[in-house]
Amino acid sequence: MANTAEQETQATLDESATPILELADATIKFGGLTAVDSVSFTLNKGDLFGLIGPNGAGKTTVFNIITGVYKPTSGDILFNGRNIAGLKPEKVAQLGICRTFQNIRLFGSLSVLENVVVGGFLRKKTGLFSALALLPPAVNETTELRKKAMDLLEVMDLADVAQSRAADLPYGKQRRLEIARAMATGPDLILLDEPAAGMNPQEKEALATTVRRIRDDFDKTVLLIEHDMRFVMNLCERIVVLDHGVEISAGTPDIVRNDPKVIEAYLGEESE
Ligand SMILES: Nc1ncnc2c1ncn2[C@@H]1O[C@H](COP(=O)(O)OP(=O)(O)OP(=O)(O)O)[C@@H](O)[C@H]1O
Ligand SMILES: [Mg+2]
Repeated sequence: MANTAEQETQATLDESATPILELADATIKFGGLTAVDSVSFTLNKGDLFGLIGPNGAGKTTVFNIITGVYKPTSGDILFNGRNIAGLKPEKVAQLGICRTFQNIRLFGSLSVLENVVVGGFLRKKTGLFSALALLPPAVNETTELRKKAMDLLEVMDLADVAQSRAADLPYGKQRRLEIARAMATGPDLILLDEPAAGMNPQEKEALATTVRRIRDDFDKTVLLIEHDMRFVMNLCERIVVLDHGVEISAGTPDIVRNDPKVIEAYLGEESE
């Protein structure tokens, strides 16, 4: 009996899940190379979702077609039910998707705080340039965004370095700053491309706690790419695995970890 009740509860939970991002047969070709080959998966609101696969599997390219860097050759990308495939990156950001980059992209000569404030303008009416020049329409927004930016720096454990030049931060903190800047756009969905890369074990553990907080306390949906298996398996509740652009496995960490196709793909990588 108890088991049935539990199953019913699970079914109700699944029914109440609201899709936020759906890839349907998303494909992109670069010349003769199909970098992403008919990939389909769905993220529900509040998911903490992992995208993994060996080098060159097409993970970053998936981020690029979601965020408008590239237009998919075919297939749909639905965000809150709207097809966003081929929209410009600024438009995608305004709709509520933001990302970090595999190769950190910060304004190195600006302060930590300024980097986050600038992120906040991406979804504001006041343009980035008038904001930077502090033209009259931007002044009020700047004050408000500064406060929000400081709050985000607290969350990311960077408040003590708010006035430092971004380029002077150690690598792990730069990665956290990129996440703070992405969060400043007020996204519903945040895409993190290898957020733990180059971090030591303590930094990785702190990052995992922060990513959970972003989902739990800030109601964000998170999709992350990561090579560190331990990190991704401990953090993500569902995972999709790509290899040579093709989805080879999907499911809970347990399912994916024990899938012979996944093991083979990673062993193949080691021997290459
Ligand atoms: N703009 C482009 N033009 C041509 N080929 C591209 C382009 N972008 C990506 N590719 C190719 O698409 C494939 C997938 O690349 P992608 O960067 O998405 O892999 P990845 O899974 O993120 O790998 P890594 O783990 O090394 O970051 C690679 O073969 C790459 O060379
Ligand atoms: Mg990549």
